Amino acid sequence: MKKSPIGVFDSGYGGLTVLKSIKQRLPEYDYIYIGDNARTPYGNRSFETVYDYTLQAVKTFFDMGCELVILACNTASAKALRSIQQKDLPLIDPHKRVLGVIRPSAEIIGTETRNNHVGIFGTPGTVNSESYLIEIAKLFPAITVTQEACPIWVPLIENNQFDNEGGHFFVKQHVTALIEKDPKIDTIILGCTHYPLLQNIIQQYLPKQTKILSQGELVANSLVQYMQRHPEMEKSCSKGGSVHFYTTDDPSIFDERAKIFLGENIKSKRIKLLT
Ligand code: DGL
Repeated sequence: MKKSPIGVFDSGYGGLTVLKSIKQRLPEYDYIYIGDNARTPYGNRSFETVYDYTLQAVKTFFDMGCELVILACNTASAKALRSIQQKDLPLIDPHKRVLGVIRPSAEIIGTETRNNHVGIFGTPGTVNSESYLIEIAKLFPAITVTQEACPIWVPLIENNQFDNEGGHFFVKQHVTALIEKDPKIDTIILGCTHYPLLQNIIQQYLPKQTKILSQGELVANSLVQYMQRHPEMEKSCSKGGSVHFYTTDDPSIFDERAKIFLGENIKSKRIKLLT
């Protein structure tokens, strides 16, 4: 039978936080991870650019045999997922699937907040797309969602400059700004897959009782349910427990930094995305 790994995509390292959770829940499958480190960050780029880059990645995964691709990137999920699902997949191959991270996060939020006041930290791209506002309003219209764009957080994380005085300054700045906008917020989604690395620092500047949801776990749970609902997809995914890592930039740098996100040593290869 054809080997069909599950593709996991991010603009850089952030998706590794999602891959880590997915692998814990579903260790039996084969995975391919691609980080578009050469062109990261996506968060400040236009809709068209994020769509073009994400479609290139999706086509590359399909070329590598994947039937199912997870966009483990909120920015790509916000700006490219819908167009790819509606416009591109029917033309490329209607049996293949591309899933994102925003919908699974929105689905869970209503069961986590106790007072219906929710906060989202995200890249400017994710925040401006209003994808979280739209998805949460569809499912839980009573919830008040307040967003805060944090343009500097991804560069701080990508450059491993977050756990120092400068890093804390920028984390505190955005946490304070969000809470000032809505002091009643009791639950927060880190709407960028890079941000779990900041979770402990963010928590320090939040009111004690505020809960931060882990997007990696939400997405992993949602994938478990997806596989149960779609046995045909489940059967087509190969089960060898392997993970192959690719980056569009320097693999030795990727391997070094990936350790921070995954907590294990890996060996990546360089890849050019199909245009
Ligand atoms: N990790 C990505 C996200 O979840 C994007 C970071 C970026 O490239 O700006 O939004």
